Amino acid sequence: MLHSLLEFLYMAVVLQQVNHLPTPLTLQDEFTQADSFITERAENVLLNLTNLGPRVVGSEANEVEAVTLILDQVFKVQNEMNQDYFDIEVDLQVVSGQYMHTSLYHGVQNILAKLSAKNNTSTNYLLINSHFDSTPKSPGASDDGAMVAVMLEILRVMANSKGPLEHPIVFLFNGAEEDGLLASYGFTTQHKWAKNCKVIINLDAAGSGGREILFQSISESSWLMNYYSKVTHPFANAVLEELFQFGLVPSATDFRNFRDYGGMQGFDMAYIQNGYVYHTEFDSFKVYPKASLQNTGDNVLSLAKSLGNAPEMRNINNYGNMEHFIFFDFLGWFMVHYTMNTNLIVNILVCVAALIAIVISLCWISKRADLSLLAIVAQFMLTTFIQTLSLALGAAFSILISYVMDVIGCSMTWFSNNWLICGLYFCPVFFFLGILPAGFLEYTKKYALPLGLRIQLFLHSHCLILIVLTISLTFLNIRSAFMFMVAVFFYAAALIGNLITQLHNKGSWFAIPVIVSQIVPFLYFSYVAEYLYFIFIPVTGRNGGASNPDLLIALIAVIFAILLSGFLIPLYLLFRRTRSIILCSLGVAILFMILAIRPIGTPYTPKLAPQRYTVQHANQLYHNADGSIRSNESAIYLYQQDRHIDIAEEVIVKFKAAHETSTVCNNEATCQLDRPSIFYTPNSLWLPVNEPPGIPYERPVLTLTAKTIMNTPNTVRYNYTLTGPDHMMFFIEPKTSAKIINWSFDKTILSRKRLVFTFVHGKNNDAFEFFIDLECHQYTEFGNRVKIYEEFLESLPNYATNVNWLATYDSWLF
Ligand SMILES: *[C@@H]1O[C@H](CO)[C@@H](O)[C@H](O)[C@H]1NC(C)=O
Ligand SMILES: *[C@@H]1O[C@H](CO)[C@@H](O)[C@H](O)[C@H]1NC(C)=O
Ligand SMILES: *[C@@H]1O[C@H](CO)[C@@H](O)[C@H](O)[C@H]1NC(C)=O
Ligand SMILES: *[C@@H]1O[C@H](CO)[C@@H](O)[C@H](O)[C@H]1NC(C)=O
Ligand SMILES: *[C@@H]1O[C@H](CO)[C@@H](O)[C@H](O)[C@H]1NC(C)=O
Ligand SMILES: *[C@@H]1O[C@H](CO)[C@@H](O)[C@H](O)[C@H]1NC(C)=O
Ligand SMILES: [Zn+2]
Repeated sequence: MLHSLLEFLYMAVVLQQVNHLPTPLTLQDEFTQADSFITERAENVLLNLTNLGPRVVGSEANEVEAVTLILDQVFKVQNEMNQDYFDIEVDLQVVSGQYMHTSLYHGVQNILAKLSAKNNTSTNYLLINSHFDSTPKSPGASDDGAMVAVMLEILRVMANSKGPLEHPIVFLFNGAEEDGLLASYGFTTQHKWAKNCKVIINLDAAGSGGREILFQSISESSWLMNYYSKVTHPFANAVLEELFQFGLVPSATDFRNFRDYGGMQGFDMAYIQNGYVYHTEFDSFKVYPKASLQNTGDNVLSLAKSLGNAPEMRNINNYGNMEHFIFFDFLGWFMVHYTMNTNLIVNILVCVAALIAIVISLCWISKRADLSLLAIVAQFMLTTFIQTLSLALGAAFSILISYVMDVIGCSMTWFSNNWLICGLYFCPVFFFLGILPAGFLEYTKKYALPLGLRIQLFLHSHCLILIVLTISLTFLNIRSAFMFMVAVFFYAAALIGNLITQLHNKGSWFAIPVIVSQIVPFLYFSYVAEYLYFIFIPVTGRNGGASNPDLLIALIAVIFAILLSGFLIPLYLLFRRTRSIILCSLGVAILFMILAIRPIGTPYTPKLAPQRYTVQHANQLYHNADGSIRSNESAIYLYQQDRHIDIAEEVIVKFKAAHETSTVCNNEATCQLDRPSIFYTPNSLWLPVNEPPGIPYERPVLTLTAKTIMNTPNTVRYNYTLTGPDHMMFFIEPKTSAKIINWSFDKTILSRKRLVFTFVHGKNNDAFEFFIDLECHQYTEFGNRVKIYEEFLESLPNYATNVNWLATYDSWLF
């Protein structure tokens, strides 16, 4: 009965709320709901934007067509807006520079629209950012076209309103995010408005639609969170912020640039549902759920209006004393947030209160059973030992299964059929949480304490374990400790209720407050587990092949199994058929393991949950100092995105013997030192073929334009120009004894050993000029990337998706 109730809550409330989206507004609604976000308009913009196809930096689609489309929309708003009250200043920034020492960018574009009240003189701006470029092959509907469309509609709604707007809002549509956050860096460090931008709302995606989650926020006080709490559809969690900062999500967003280089405070939000299609050809207009536009539109419009008029914005500095916060939503209904100081106090107070309640309860039990307190404490310690052992065994077993599945070649069985996780990784924990205490209770039957009291000891023990976890994590400065505090809080509430009502003294009645107290934590923890899984399952499809993806999934299961079931499973022991229930969960675990072996456990589903590959048809040329060619070889270069490169093995065998890429280098000395080839990543394959890349493509050309003897002794300046495709990568390495003493790049990295630069050009593809001052001779190597190799790609299994292009590697000696 208890689990029917829980199942009902899960189906009727948790799943509903996780997937809830508002009804999208249409053009008809505009008459009745002026000043509202109209999804239909945003949808039309998104359709046109995605119709341009993939928008890779440097392509016509990105640099010309997308820019024209967005600018047209901005000018249209400018013409139709409330011109008595508002002004829109438009700017197209074309920017070049160096980022993170070795990322060179040239002519990438930012479209800017600054909305301000004619009257107003505030010099503190709100910045809202999204990017219109996409990855190769991807139409970029969710990442990040939808956010561009949302911003354009918000600009329109606000500019047509009557105001008020105290602080100007800068809408930044950036044109180069996917190549390493270049355009937002260009804006932050070089645009005249950047210093005035104090607060950032960054909008991006790691999935296709759903509700956008607030997963990073930093500010000077909790004022920003106060405003976020008022949005219509809150969805946020500080746990994700922490996981993101621990590097568990392989992504980065522009937010980093605004925060670290612009000193801004603000919000980072992203779509996270259906991460399977993220950065693939399936991130299309058709797949993206349109109601998501309404969700984001309502939220960001509300934030734009409130921050645009916030008194707190009047006195605000870049680079203030930034803080992190504890924040989370409850089922999308409301927000909870507090400062880190409050967090410390709350965690300690709740734990102390729970401890006191446990001690009082132990005293009662001793009085009731007519045993010495010492005897009860001893019994309690023994119970705690059994409970700890059960948890440890459950966790160990779950983790063991994750290794077994991996070793037998069945990792990621839950990739498409997510429900397998239940049986594979939750059930073992449930099983041990039940079987050990059941055995213990059976064995100690003849002791003086009645069953009800002994079960209460188990509940107390579980609470004690959670208290220890909460306190330890709090002192380790792990913000996610609040999750354990929540579990302690609700149990302590039930316990105090029991003590006050004396229900704990009346047989099995204590179970009623406990069950009631578990409803809210059950709803909350299963809600969080649900979306953590839909974030992390797709992530395992692009996390590389190095680590065991089942381990991560098992760890999440262990934590949530403990949070969800620790206070519920002991209650089952009150009933007679305990052992059958427990054996049933073991049965389920075993059944699921059998099921998980293919075909149900086949990880991939065509189009819906595809396997990712990155494939290049590559050619590398090594030039001698006199310009002649020393070596010329072609291959298919493939690198793995998840644990299952084995699935493509047949194809690989058909395409000649595979070499690990370490054999690519033909200059042994340099290869073994630091492999100066772009064709080297761990777990990648190099499949030599005779055919060079077929489609005409641009090769990089590096020309030495001047060689000047400098005044400094033994120093020669080499001037170069580099021309070629829009994405290039190059290595610079002086020959043996020579030393680079100056150059046009970042001077602070002159002493680095491995000098690999990436070069991206957007609008301009004029020759890139640079110089190097050397104390002797030098040796330079260059590589680049460009598009497609059909035959190999078509022979990949149909559940695969791949990002592919042509790549060439040229090496010159000078
Ligand atoms: C989308 O493109 C079509 C065809 O070019 C055009 O008629 C329409 O006005 C565009 N809509 C928007 C919102 O840009
Ligand atoms: C600008 O402010 C003045 C008073 O400060 C007011 O009289 C005027 O109506 C305002 N103009 C607009 C367009 O709101
Ligand atoms: C700017 O706008 C705010 C809110 O509408 C208003 O209170 C303030 O007086 C305005 N400032 C100026 C200089 O007009
Ligand atoms: C490299 O070799 C291929 C044949 O394998 C040839 O077609 C191509 O022209 C060569 N490239 C250069 C630059 O010589
Ligand atoms: C070489 O590059 C430097 C720095 O860009 C420039 O000042 C110099 O004129 C160049 N020399 C020649 C000969 O082009
Ligand atoms: C490096 O070269 C630049 C450009 O010629 C020059 O301005 C700068 O002073 C040089 N730096 C050093 C340390 O020689
Ligand atoms: Zn993005």
